[in-house]
Amino acid sequence: MIVAIDGPAASGKSTTAKMVAKKLKMTYLDTGAMYRAVTLALLRSNTDLDDYDSVCQVVDELELDIFDQGAKTVVRLDGEDVSQAIRSMPVTENVSAVSAMKYVREAMVEIQRNIGKKTNCVVEGRDIGTVVFPDAEFKIFMVADVKIRAERRLKELHEMGDDQSLQEVMADLKRRDKKDSTRVHSPLQKAGDAIEIDTSMLSIDQQVEKVEKFINLVREKNNK
Ligand code: CDP
Repeated sequence: MIVAIDGPAASGKSTTAKMVAKKLKMTYLDTGAMYRAVTLALLRSNTDLDDYDSVCQVVDELELDIFDQGAKTVVRLDGEDVSQAIRSMPVTENVSAVSAMKYVREAMVEIQRNIGKKTNCVVEGRDIGTVVFPDAEFKIFMVADVKIRAERRLKELHEMGDDQSLQEVMADLKRRDKKDSTRVHSPLQKAGDAIEIDTSMLSIDQQVEKVEKFINLVREKNNK
């Protein structure tokens, strides 16, 4: 069983996906964290992102682990816990360019599908309902007003000790959303059979409740 949650940056996917996974005793998979880890590996190795062959080589050689540990997702790159490092500014600035590359996407999608084969998952990302798991029984597309998304992200960043301004955060979200939506391979888009949830005016509990209601509704319909 796969619950696919897609949507633009900071639309509420992570918080919702984590809570839904916990309630339904499913694995939570943050695919954005995987693209961030690849980006970190490329930055650390000083790879020229325009040099496709070098990028492919780094992708082939990296060892990526992602797993739930209590309420947290741990991401390991070549054995090192990089869960914090993947949220840094340089990674955020480059991740959309890295994740637009076909080779990178194919490598990550393979890992994601293998995880999905082994366990019931709530998977969040940009292309989960469209490309990674097009047959997912439950597809949700989360959206929210860009200013509200920027305010939410700013709060998270401040909690991590990062002191960006609202303008900077908003500019980053807009830039990434544009790049993610207009790229050739697996652009961010709503799957035809996904329901849309606008979280602008919703509390976290309300968001989670909406998703749960939707899952129950689909289950009831399919059992009839
Ligand atoms: O948490 P935030 O909304 O900032 O983004 P994220 O989920 O950590 O994803 C970071 C970036 O990875 C996105 O801006 C996309 O460029 C890319 N991504 C992707 O291309 N496909 C996915 N399935 C997930 C993320």
